[in-house]
Amino acid sequence: MTAVQQAIDKSGDIAQALLTHYDAHARTLPWRAPPGQGVANPYHVWLSEIMLQQTTVAAVGGYFQKFTHMWPNFAALAAADDADVMAAWAGLGYYARARNLLKCARVVVAEHDGRLPETEAALLKLPGIGPYTAAAISAIAFGQRAVVVDANVERVISRLFAISTPLPQSKPLIRVATDSITPDARAGDFAQAMMDLGAGICSVRAPSCLVCPLTFACDAARLGHPETYPAKTPKAAKPQRTGTVYWIARDEHVWLVRRDDKGLLAGMRALPDDQWSARLDGHATPPAPANWQKLPVHVAHVFTHFSLRLDIAVTSWPADADDPGDGEWWPVKSLDKAGLPTLFRKAAEAVLDAGGKYEYAG
Ligand code: ADE
Ligand code: SF4
Repeated sequence: MTAVQQAIDKSGDIAQALLTHYDAHARTLPWRAPPGQGVANPYHVWLSEIMLQQTTVAAVGGYFQKFTHMWPNFAALAAADDADVMAAWAGLGYYARARNLLKCARVVVAEHDGRLPETEAALLKLPGIGPYTAAAISAIAFGQRAVVVDANVERVISRLFAISTPLPQSKPLIRVATDSITPDARAGDFAQAMMDLGAGICSVRAPSCLVCPLTFACDAARLGHPETYPAKTPKAAKPQRTGTVYWIARDEHVWLVRRDDKGLLAGMRALPDDQWSARLDGHATPPAPANWQKLPVHVAHVFTHFSLRLDIAVTSWPADADDPGDGEWWPVKSLDKAGLPTLFRKAAEAVLDAGGKYEYAG
């Protein structure tokens, strides 16, 4: 029998066993409806799903509370200032998500009467909503049957069917297998039960097959060494880029700029830098001529496609000189309110930590 035929054979039992387990053990999360109690608030489901793209439940928690407090529905978010939303998102990473979040809220208000459309096809047309997110929202917020596959589900399915093809080549097969065990009823609970299983019992390194509700149907558990699934292809090393950030201090203030609308961390407030990118090292030319001094510390940050190591150069700006370009003097004391992305927050912390030794540090 092929994996897919086996899937069809055991499909009903798997859904049943998983949902029964979910009824007793579902994680309580602020955007969820309790198990078996229908669908949740679509605005909450949408917001949480965008935040959870590439981000863990633990990291999202506080941000979800902050956003729903500041902007409780689509209308409120659509009317928000771009800069406020970007600043509130600071620290979550992948900032294109925040820009699309706003765009999407505005389309929902302008074109859909402030309510999310319910079908996967209609959801897919909205900014920031890809195939995974469209499926997740239609199942969790509207109870539609949808095949919901995120990274946790990929792992569980690869193990249940002992899929020996590595990711990403196995994606089509994983999709067919997930489809084959997805029930018509309670599609949202089923999707979230799969996610919970992957986030807890069926963990990356040490799956707890002895307490798993699906052991009876799991090929990887039967074969032994379930942790070896999904099969892996060796990864190419990430390129390492270098660059410099510049700390320009004047009278307890530091000079901040707004990044370009295109490219990495677009539109975010930031320290000036030497235009490093995913493809090129920075040019190491300061934003303005001054008496620059390099600090003996560095900032390291890992992006999706490259790692970055930044030098830090500091200077104190004369009180009577023209401003160093386009930007603003920001009070160092309230730098935490500037909404700096993590990379620049780390650089600022490094400068302030060194501040005892370097008097111009602000
Ligand atoms: N990851 C993405 N969506 C999720 C959800 N609804 N519950 C738990 N983890 C998730
Ligand atoms: Fe994962 Fe083990 Fe459960 Fe299989 S039996 S789904 S490997 S925890």
